[in-house]
Amino acid sequence: MTFSTNNEWTKYLSEFDWNRTEPYDPKELLSMMYKVVENGFYGTNHPLAISWLAGELSKEELQFMGIQEYWYFRCTVWWNAGKVLHCPDLEDQRLLLGPLAEEAGIGDEPHEKQFIRYLQGIGVDMETVFSTGVLPQTITCVDEFYNLNSYGKLVESLAANNLVAEIMRPKQYPLVLESYRKNYTWVPDDALVFFRTHSEADIEHAEIGEKLFLKYAKSMEAQQLAWSALTRSLAARWCLYDGILQYIKKKNSPLLPLWRAFPVIGDV
Ligand SMILES: [Fe+2]
Repeated sequence: MTFSTNNEWTKYLSEFDWNRTEPYDPKELLSMMYKVVENGFYGTNHPLAISWLAGELSKEELQFMGIQEYWYFRCTVWWNAGKVLHCPDLEDQRLLLGPLAEEAGIGDEPHEKQFIRYLQGIGVDMETVFSTGVLPQTITCVDEFYNLNSYGKLVESLAANNLVAEIMRPKQYPLVLESYRKNYTWVPDDALVFFRTHSEADIEHAEIGEKLFLKYAKSMEAQQLAWSALTRSLAARWCLYDGILQYIKKKNSPLLPLWRAFPVIGDV
């Protein structure tokens, strides 16, 4: 028996040659990665995202999705801090500190607070977030990013975050905003600041990612690490949406209680 898929994402992901000894030209590798990301990014390709953008989700479904996604978005300071931690060069550390400060809200509203504002706009308070519980897929996804950014090399963080999310948010979130304007008109406009922020700020963040990637992804080892991180990042995001979609359809997935500081343990 053979199992196959006509998924473009699979096709482009298999273009990387793991047996190669001479590294790719980093620019060539970058364009190979972008083809994968365009076709495998959960926010524009997953069936749940397609329904979201088409305005097909009910209020309750949007609320459930927002509760699960909170656990990822509350961690973006850590994702960015991991890059600074693993960056060998002061000049590049300074570049990475900009997005880190923006995430943490130095000079503006922290991005986590912007997401909480969105949750409030769709009728979800934080007590509900914490009492609802978390899908196993949400935990696995958040843990994957926490581990990747805590223990990986800089190229892995760049490949998993900048070259995936920050490349695609300026494409995805304008579509999200348009969908709210057309389809989810009950959501107040000032609750959507999170999506507006990332439609714009991530253009610059992605440019930083590209610049550093071209500098640091020169050896074959670095390129293999980057390709594995890209695969892991896309897979973890896909699982997050698979979990949400399965719950929405069948309502039989376990919802697990979590401590508030997940994925770290507080007070130790
Ligand atoms: Fe952010």
